[in-house]
Amino acid sequence: MAGEEGLFEIEEWLRWERKRARTRRRTQEDRKVEEYVFDIPTLECLYKLAKRRIITAMGGPVSTGKEANVFHALSDKSVTGMKEIAVKIYKIETSTFDAMHEYIIGDPRFENIKKNKRSMVFAWTKKEFRNLKRAADAGVRVPKPVAADRNVLVMEFIGVDGVPEPLLREVANDIDKADAKRIFKDLVSYMRLLYNGARLVHADLSEFNIMAEGYIESENIRPVLIDFGQAVLLSHPNAEAFLRRDVRNVATFFKKLSVQCSEDEILRLVENGGRKETGRGR
Ligand SMILES: Nc1ncnc2c1ncn2[C@@H]1O[C@H](COP(=O)(O)OP(=O)(O)OP(=O)(O)O)[C@@H](O)[C@H]1O
Ligand SMILES: [Mg+2]
Repeated sequence: MAGEEGLFEIEEWLRWERKRARTRRRTQEDRKVEEYVFDIPTLECLYKLAKRRIITAMGGPVSTGKEANVFHALSDKSVTGMKEIAVKIYKIETSTFDAMHEYIIGDPRFENIKKNKRSMVFAWTKKEFRNLKRAADAGVRVPKPVAADRNVLVMEFIGVDGVPEPLLREVANDIDKADAKRIFKDLVSYMRLLYNGARLVHADLSEFNIMAEGYIESENIRPVLIDFGQAVLLSHPNAEAFLRRDVRNVATFFKKLSVQCSEDEILRLVENGGRKETGRGR
């Protein structure tokens, strides 16, 4: 976690990295390390965010994945309204251009992206930021987005004192039937708000992209939806198919927790908000 000890000054780090790049021949070992650390443009980006007091200290990684790393960090509360933040840094080299393209194509918000990895990742980062904003504005519980610049996304940290809340997947065994029902209801209402309010489909919704808020402090678990880069507008040609897949994942997970609800029923709740069909079609 970011704290007083172990805190590093981004500016100093940037200076050091630049010097290192200038003066040392990069060894194989360096290159390996850099896969997990930041390149200079990313550091410059973090530095800019630090100058704006959006980031005041970087902490350790919360998650290191194929597409992105997520770090815990601190912020100036008088600037962002939050003390703890999560900094998601998309990797450019290992990004999968084609996979991203499928979820960004036809999106009027991102019509003129250049056809290279870097531009795609920058657009993707902005897309996640905008999707989070739309979702939050519609009343869906998501990490509040703070800023997006290049491949860096800053958002509310879901956790306590540098410890992230677990994923729903990780706490499945601790959830009893009554709890499961309540979480399921919350989740379906968020899916409905996302669909009818934000006009978005998450498109990668499952117990792996839902955090269990409240778990750390032994409160009732409240679902928080994360990971919105691939979320699409309802106008996306595959929006309906993505929604069906999301619904299937949710139904499968909750069935294991003894919540009986058919995929069709969930779909109806999400699309129509539980209202009877009007006869005008979907
Ligand atoms: N706002 C947040 N606060 C706390 N932890 C977070 C936050 N966002 C993400 N995380 C943690 O980081 C992990 C990865 O985040 P996310 O799902 O957004 O990235 P991803 O695109 O799935 O990355 P990859 O698939 O490459 O691992 C999450 O499972 C969660 O544990
Ligand atoms: Mg994820």
